[in-house]
Amino acid sequence: MNLFARKSMAQLHAEADSGTLRRALGPLNLTTLGIGAIIGAGIFVLTGQAAAQYAGPAIVISFVLAGTACLFAGLCYAEFASMIPVAGSAYTYAYATLGELLAWIIGWDLILEYALGAATVAVGWSGYVVSFLKDVGVVLPPQWATAFGTSSQLADGTIVHGIVNVPAILIVLAVSALLVIGIKESAGANAGIVIVKVAVVLLFIAFGAHFVRTQNWHPFVPPQQGDYGHYGWGGIVRGAGVIFFAYIGFDAVSTAAQEAKNPQRDMPIGILVSLAICTVLYIAVSLVLTGVVHYSKLNVPDPMAVGIDAAGPGLAWLRPFIKLGAIAGLSSVILVMLLGQPRVFYSMSRDGLLPKVFSKIHPKFRTPYITTIMTGIVVAIAAGLLPINILGELVSIGTLLAFALVSAGVLVMRYSMPDLERPFRTPWVPVVPVLGVLACGYLMWGLPNETKLRLVVWLVIGLLVYFFYGRASAERLRATREPLTPYPGSERSPR
Ligand code: ALA
Repeated sequence: MNLFARKSMAQLHAEADSGTLRRALGPLNLTTLGIGAIIGAGIFVLTGQAAAQYAGPAIVISFVLAGTACLFAGLCYAEFASMIPVAGSAYTYAYATLGELLAWIIGWDLILEYALGAATVAVGWSGYVVSFLKDVGVVLPPQWATAFGTSSQLADGTIVHGIVNVPAILIVLAVSALLVIGIKESAGANAGIVIVKVAVVLLFIAFGAHFVRTQNWHPFVPPQQGDYGHYGWGGIVRGAGVIFFAYIGFDAVSTAAQEAKNPQRDMPIGILVSLAICTVLYIAVSLVLTGVVHYSKLNVPDPMAVGIDAAGPGLAWLRPFIKLGAIAGLSSVILVMLLGQPRVFYSMSRDGLLPKVFSKIHPKFRTPYITTIMTGIVVAIAAGLLPINILGELVSIGTLLAFALVSAGVLVMRYSMPDLERPFRTPWVPVVPVLGVLACGYLMWGLPNETKLRLVVWLVIGLLVYFFYGRASAERLRATREPLTPYPGSERSPR
């Protein structure tokens, strides 16, 4: 029965109190942390590609759909984060509610969110760097700045094929090196980047709005062409599955639970307020972007810059700001994701599900350095070789699965441990968690079949690792642990 072994509340609270992390973050810091992790390649890159390939101007509706799914999931995350304020996020919640096997699946699945998410944003970062350098007269050869096999056209019309994306590799390695040395993104530095990012987005909305040509919005929902998923309603749903990527990050707030001054009250604020602010910004940006430039021209690595160009000389001054804002903003998302991944590995290793080396801490820098280095190398390889759309869709589907499982977890917990103290309660249970599961499931279903297949292959590999290694290793660790006193209200937990 160890497949369904659960961690007791007593154990989780003991872990929360055993840490040496400093409780320094208030509601404003947590909200800016959320916005810092949310605004990135999704809005700066994928919006244009999803509009061009799938939804047309109706990408605005895709943003509303994806935002609604995130709201349901966000309300569920808020309940867990206030109830179990321990780093480890969805993985930890699953260990407390759904048992070891599902916790493993979520932990394995979070690799898609954090590690591949970092790779995706690194490719977006590379696109904006190439574009910025070109503006100042430095042209990087596209063979060395795009994914393996991608074709690009040179100024003289020659077609060349990508070999490896060097800038994407360099940013991943640089951020990983910083994380090993222990440069921790302080709340102040993050807030600085957030101000720049939000300012750039607001400038784009405010000035771009004057250059909107309403004929670009007609037809708002282009009729379906060819297969399901290319324009029409199917395109809106597929677009929502893709730009769902843009919302990922509000859940990262929950990994800072052990650094929050008053997690019970402030985690829900951080999660829900950051999500609300970004939803409003995204809907406005997508309206303006598809209004200033025809959606068919947006399948590029730097769609916001293309929007500015389409507006004509009146907006040329904004171009460098947008690019520098995007480059700074994307760097902070990469940092948060490369910080989050080793933390999840660290928690899984401490529970015996991964080898001990994953939780080895550097004696001087006090960081999980081996995990950080290994993550950095694998992410750099992915970022160097794979194109952004394949990466982004895989990240979206993986995170949607995690959100659906967290929503289901809230429901399970309400029935299995009804008396547990819940400082924040998801409203309208069971409606909201059920809608969370259904909405995330619907967006997953809308994604291309190859993406679904890749997810299945990834999960099968994960199950093999669990059954051949993790299960027995976790069991050995459990056998040596002291039994713990039950936490009030959690007596029904099997451990
Ligand atoms: N939401 C983050 C981004 O769009 C992951 O880059």
